[in-house]
Amino acid sequence: MLHAVIMAGGAGTRFWPASRAGRPKQLLDLTGDGTMIQATAARLSDLVDPSRILVVTSQRLVEPIQQQFPQLPAAAIVGEPCKRDTAPCIGLAALLVSRDDPEAIMVVMPSDHVISPEASFQSAVRYGAGLVAESENRIVTFGIQPKYAAETFGYIERGESLTSDSSAPPTFQVARFREKPKGDVAREYFESGNFYWNSGIFIWKAKTILEALKRHEPEMFAHLEAINADWGTPQQAETFQREFAAIQGKSIDYAVMEHHQDVAVIEAPFLWDDVGNWQSLERLNDADSDGNTVLANHLGIDTKDCIIKADGDHLIVTLGMSGTIVVHTEDATLVADKQREEDIREVVKKLQANG
Ligand code: GDD
Ligand code: MG
Repeated sequence: MLHAVIMAGGAGTRFWPASRAGRPKQLLDLTGDGTMIQATAARLSDLVDPSRILVVTSQRLVEPIQQQFPQLPAAAIVGEPCKRDTAPCIGLAALLVSRDDPEAIMVVMPSDHVISPEASFQSAVRYGAGLVAESENRIVTFGIQPKYAAETFGYIERGESLTSDSSAPPTFQVARFREKPKGDVAREYFESGNFYWNSGIFIWKAKTILEALKRHEPEMFAHLEAINADWGTPQQAETFQREFAAIQGKSIDYAVMEHHQDVAVIEAPFLWDDVGNWQSLERLNDADSDGNTVLANHLGIDTKDCIIKADGDHLIVTLGMSGTIVVHTEDATLVADKQREEDIREVVKKLQANG
C-alpha cells in the first residue's frame, strides 16, 4: 500500500520576521492559500488514505502542527527529541510504517515546497509508485530542470532512458546523484545539460530504504531499531530521547542517495518551487502594474518592484520606494533592500546573540 511521510523538522531563518524558531517556513502561509504543510497534506490526500499519512517533525513543532491538522490522530505526528537531519527521520518513519505493512511503499516529501497543479503531482506519484513496485530495490526521484548553477540543491545525472510509453513523463536511470556540489562543479553540471535538480521527493519500498540505511549507516540504523523495539511501550519516550540523541545527523541525500545503485528519475511534470526566500514570492504571485508583489492591505505611491507582506489588516503605505522588502508581523517588521536579502540570516544571528 502507498503511505506518505511528510518531513517537517526543518528550521529555516530566511523568512524572518514571519518565521521564528517555533514557526518555520512549513508553518507559514506565504501565498494566501493556507500554510505550506497544509498544502502538502492536501496534495497527498487524494493519493493516500489520511490514516496512512505520517508527519515527522521536531518536538517543539508537534503542537502547532496538531493545531493545523485537528483531524489527524496524535500518533500520526512524530516529534523528534533533537534535530538529526533527514536520514534518521526517514529511517524511523520506514520502521514505523513497516510495523503494520511490511510491503509498504512510501512517498516521502518535504513540507515546504510549492507544487502545482495537484493533479499532475498525483499522477506522477502514482506512476512513480508503479516503477518502485515493479523493481526489487528501486528508488524513484523527481527531477527539476535546473535554472542556474545552484549550490543549495542535489543534482541528478540522467543515464539511459526508462520511458516506456509516450504518455509517461520522461524517465531515466540515474547515472549519478551528487548532493549540493559547490561552485565549479555546480556550474559544470548545470552547463552540461545532463542534470536535474533533486526535488527532495522520494518514492521507495520501506524495506528498500531500511536495507540501504542498514548497509550505509549501520550505527544510525541500530539506534533506530532500538527506538522501534520500544515503540508503543512505556519506555517509548525515554528510549526515543536517548537513542535519537546518540545518532550522528546526516541527510538522506548523503547517507543513501549518493550511494544507491538503482535510482530512477522522473522529470517532474509539475511546477516546483522550493520558496527559498522572500523574493520567491515574486514567482508565486502576480505582480501589480508597477511590479510590486503585495500580500497586504497596501497603498503604494511611486512604489515599484517591492515585496510587501503584512499579517491581518495592518495598512502598509510606501512612498517613493523601489526594490524594497517590507514584512510586517505582530511583533516585528522588516524593511530591507532586496539586494541584501541573503543577509537576513545575519540579522537572525544578531537577534539571537542579543537574546
Ligand atoms: N523530521 C525532520 N527532521 N525533518 C527535517 C529535518 C529533521 O531533522 N531536517 C530537515 N527536515 C525537513 C525540512 O523541513 C524539509 O521539509 C525537508 O526535510 C528537507 O530538508 P531541508 O533541510 O530543507 O533540505 P535541503 O533543502 O537543504 O535539501 C534537500 O532538498 C532539496 C530540494 O529542496 C535535498 O534533498 C536536496 O538534494 C534537494 O535538492
Ligand atoms: Mg529545503
